[in-house]
Amino acid sequence: MAKRLPLIVGNWKMNLTLAGAKALAEAVVKGAADLPESKVVLAPPFTALGEVRKAIAGSPVQLAAQNVFWEDQGAFTGEVSAPLVRDAGCQYVVIGHSERRQIFGETDEGVNKKIKAALKSGLFPIFCLGETLAERERGETMDLLSRQLRTGLEGIAPGEFKSVVIAYEPVWAIGTGRTAAPGQAEEVHSHIRKKLELAYGIGPADCAIILYGGSVKPANSFALLSEKNIDGFLVGGASLEAESFVQIMREAIRAHKEKK
Ligand code: PGA
Repeated sequence: MAKRLPLIVGNWKMNLTLAGAKALAEAVVKGAADLPESKVVLAPPFTALGEVRKAIAGSPVQLAAQNVFWEDQGAFTGEVSAPLVRDAGCQYVVIGHSERRQIFGETDEGVNKKIKAALKSGLFPIFCLGETLAERERGETMDLLSRQLRTGLEGIAPGEFKSVVIAYEPVWAIGTGRTAAPGQAEEVHSHIRKKLELAYGIGPADCAIILYGGSVKPANSFALLSEKNIDGFLVGGASLEAESFVQIMREAIRAHKEKK
C-alpha cells in the first residue's frame, strides 16, 4: 500500500477579516513548523488570499481557493477563474463543496467542468462529494457517491487524475457536531477507492488522497485517520482556531505513523 502523507485542509468558509486571516495563518505556520510529516493547506475567502499568501511565504503551508468558475476570463461578474486563483498564489482549489451544491445549485456536471478548469491551470482540485441524511436513510449513499464520482471525473485522463484530491463529506456531518463514526467513514472511503481502481487502475487508486470532512475535531482525528483509507481532513469550524487546527495536524501525524 502506498504511504499517503496526511493532507490537512482548513476551509475557513466565509469568515475572517484581513487582520484575522493574517493572525490565524501566522499561528498555523508556527504550529506546522514542528510537524514536517504532513501537508497543510489553508483555504481563506478570496479577499484574504493575498494576506494569507504573504503570511505563509517561505513555509510549507500551501494556499487554496474555495471555488472557481470554469471559464478562464470574460464577462462573468462576481466569478473568479482558475488562472486568476493560480495567479493569486493558490496551489489547490475546493470544488463542489456541499454548501455550493445546496445553496448555489451546483451540479455534478458543473463540478466536472470546474475540475477540468482547475487541472488545466495546474491547480490540485479538492473534489468534494457526499450524501445528505435523507439519502443515507434511504440507503442510497454508495450509489449516489458512485454517480457523483463518475460524473465529476468524466473525461479526466489517468495522468490528470493524479492531481485530484477527493474529499468525502457527509452533508449531515458538516457543521453539525455529528461526525461519521470512523468505521462508517472508512466504509465509504474504501468504496470510493474501489471505484477509482475500476476507473484508473490499482496504482493511481492506491496513491489517491481521500480526505474526510464533517465535524473533524482534535478529539476524533486520531481514530478517523487510523482507518486504512482515510488520508487527511477537510476541516471547517475547527480550522478557525490555530490551536485546534494544529492539534488535528498532530493527531493525524500520530495516527499516520501507527498505520501499517
Ligand atoms: P465542519 O466543516 O468541519 O465545520 O463540519 C467541514 C467542511 O464543510 O468542509
